[in-house]
Amino acid sequence: MWVHPIYTREQIEAIDVAHREAKTFRDRFALTAIRMIRSTFDFATGYKHPPPGHEADKKFEMTPELWLRRFLFLESIAGVPGMVGGMVRHLQSLRILRRDNAWIETLLEEAYNERMHLLTFMQLTKPGWFMRLMLLGGQGVFFNLFFVSYLISPRTCHRFVGYLEEEAIITYTRCLKDIAAGRIPEWKTEGVPQIAKKYWRLDDNATMEDLIYYVRADEAKHREVNHTLANLKPSDPNPFVIHTVHNDNQPSKSLKTYNPIGWERKDVIGSDN
Ligand SMILES: [Fe+2]
Ligand SMILES: [Fe+2]
Repeated sequence: MWVHPIYTREQIEAIDVAHREAKTFRDRFALTAIRMIRSTFDFATGYKHPPPGHEADKKFEMTPELWLRRFLFLESIAGVPGMVGGMVRHLQSLRILRRDNAWIETLLEEAYNERMHLLTFMQLTKPGWFMRLMLLGGQGVFFNLFFVSYLISPRTCHRFVGYLEEEAIITYTRCLKDIAAGRIPEWKTEGVPQIAKKYWRLDDNATMEDLIYYVRADEAKHREVNHTLANLKPSDPNPFVIHTVHNDNQPSKSLKTYNPIGWERKDVIGSDN
């Protein structure tokens, strides 16, 4: 099992919504794809994101059961890209007899982390046959599309995941605001499954609110990793694992150094060629 980095309370509370401006054609393509997928998915599941000032309106109300259903589906999709990216690079390394420069471990760790999110939420809800069918169909379509896309343009795919994570953070931030405002009183006090305590090394009295804070921080890390990888050439070293610059201000696995919109290539790769 990959050991989860320790986040401090201050670090996880400081995570916030962020948006990386789309600058290139690849960026705009990825952003448009995400916006289309999000609005289709929201429409299909009847989810409405409240505009500012309307968070407490009845028509935007989300119960714990509705939240869990949404998390379950999204986490099941979120576990796909890291595994596909890791797999493609793994096979490429075997095939062309070249080292990978440490991307594989970060990508597989991301897939593992997403699956831990899924396994945690799975302890809290019992999906029915319709949901199981959605998971099957969703994965069947998404895995194949993402796989082919990753063969064509890995950088566009990492940007796509960066934008996907931006959306995930918008959703989790809304959930945390709902909890703070007393709209989901259960999650202020309800404990978390054993698997979550073990993975994030939480106290025995950790609540669902704490758990959502941790999950959101993980998504923030994925947002940073994927926006950064999208700025690199696929042959560059992975700066989250390999020390590429000669100071401490470089990407890391923890939240000690953290850049919500990703690191620019010139700042993390020693030379610019
Ligand atoms: Fe996740
Ligand atoms: Fe994620």
